[in-house]
Amino acid sequence: MTVRWYVGSDHAGFALKRHLCEVLRSLGDEVNDLGTENEQAVDYPDFGAAVGRAVASARGPALGLVICGTGVGIGIAANKVPGVRCALCTEAFTATAARAHNDANVIALGARVIGAGVAEACLRAFRDTTFEGGRHARRVGKLNTLDDAARGS
Ligand code: RB5
Repeated sequence: MTVRWYVGSDHAGFALKRHLCEVLRSLGDEVNDLGTENEQAVDYPDFGAAVGRAVASARGPALGLVICGTGVGIGIAANKVPGVRCALCTEAFTATAARAHNDANVIALGARVIGAGVAEACLRAFRDTTFEGGRHARRVGKLNTLDDAARGS
């Protein structure tokens, strides 16, 4: 199945972003690269927020990929956007569980923490796993309630 992606990184994640965008395109996915466009220093919150907003407001199913040096800062930024459930992953088991149990819709990776091979394994696991629902739906529903509170609705 083709997946629509919104992708962003800071300068530390730029090279890994470029590689992973190619991986996703080779799988036939739609890739919307929201920057950054080179290794000149930028601020990770700008790109995490851009990806978060794009995923949260997308019409139809969409996933996000955010990358910085550790994956921490850009993942925090993405998670500030109501509707985003961003998971920082350093191995494929967490990436699988993040989709299956948490219905995560954005994956964060740390380009200074993991190599391209592990990053690709995380991304493929995230892409190829679907939400299990069931008991997990109740818990994700409670996350959505927290989002509603943050929106003030
Ligand atoms: C940039 O030097 C670095 O702080 C950033 O990429 C990231 O690791 C922050 O969480």
